[in-house]
Amino acid sequence: MPGTVLVTGAASGIGAATARRLHEHGWRVWAADLDERGLGRLSPEIVSRAVDVTDEAAVESLLHDVGQAEGCLDGVAACAGISHTAPAPETPSRTFDEVLNVNLRAVFVLARAALPLLARSSAPSFAAIASELGTVGAPGLSAYSSSKAAVINLMRVLALENAARGIRFNAVAPGGTRTPMLEREQARLGRTLADSAANIPLGRLAEPAEIASVVEFVLSRDSSFMTGSVLVADGGYTAR
Ligand SMILES: NC(=O)c1ccc[n+]([C@@H]2O[C@H](COP(=O)([O-])OP(=O)(O)OC[C@H]3O[C@@H](n4cnc5c(N)ncnc54)[C@H](O)[C@@H]3O)[C@@H](O)[C@H]2O)c1
Repeated sequence: MPGTVLVTGAASGIGAATARRLHEHGWRVWAADLDERGLGRLSPEIVSRAVDVTDEAAVESLLHDVGQAEGCLDGVAACAGISHTAPAPETPSRTFDEVLNVNLRAVFVLARAALPLLARSSAPSFAAIASELGTVGAPGLSAYSSSKAAVINLMRVLALENAARGIRFNAVAPGGTRTPMLEREQARLGRTLADSAANIPLGRLAEPAEIASVVEFVLSRDSSFMTGSVLVADGGYTAR
């Protein structure tokens, strides 16, 4: 068996595809999300928990339960995230804080809480889902783009702090992916998913499964010499 993994944001989109893929490939999967109904669509063999990743005590309690049940944790895929699109003058500070809270602070809290369990694994790996928009500026996405740039650097810091004991930290930076998040955001702006695909050199959006396969690679021993890296899977968007 590849090991035990915790996936956050597992009720939808990239997180759900990641939880499914890892389960199909023999991982023991713990899935966490705010959305209990979405978690209910996963296989009953996946251990599901309704958890708000911004609630520090709830995250610590989840990791405590994982430790009690599994003894250690081999992988974490931090997929929970939110976005907000508006020019800076129309972005309230409260919204900025909310985006940073979910996309950055919660990943920090999760990583810190997971460290003792990761340290007990023979091949521990942590993957944070950042974004291509954390590697380039993105107009209208001041909070989102900043949060994703910061989570990339958070992975680098944690990679350096934990390299000596073999715990790897990497960021996965997807481009436009066909998920409810992108669909909601585009609809709010009066656009369609086809509009987002138009900016991608490959001429289409990614399917969530195409990002899940990159996450699995980062979590697996196949990427054993990678730490502090950013794996971009964006159909060529940032190649220009
Ligand atoms: N879809 C894209 O085009 C795209 C591109 C690059 C990066 N990403 C990133 O991929 C990740 C997954 O996004 P997605 O597109 O699958 O979105 P999604 O909305 O389909 O899924 C996100 C999940 O995170 C959960 N979540 C949000 N806030 C939470 C919280 N406080 N506690 C627990 N769970 C919470 C939601 O309930 C949802 O199930 C996000 O970090 C997103 O920023 C998405």
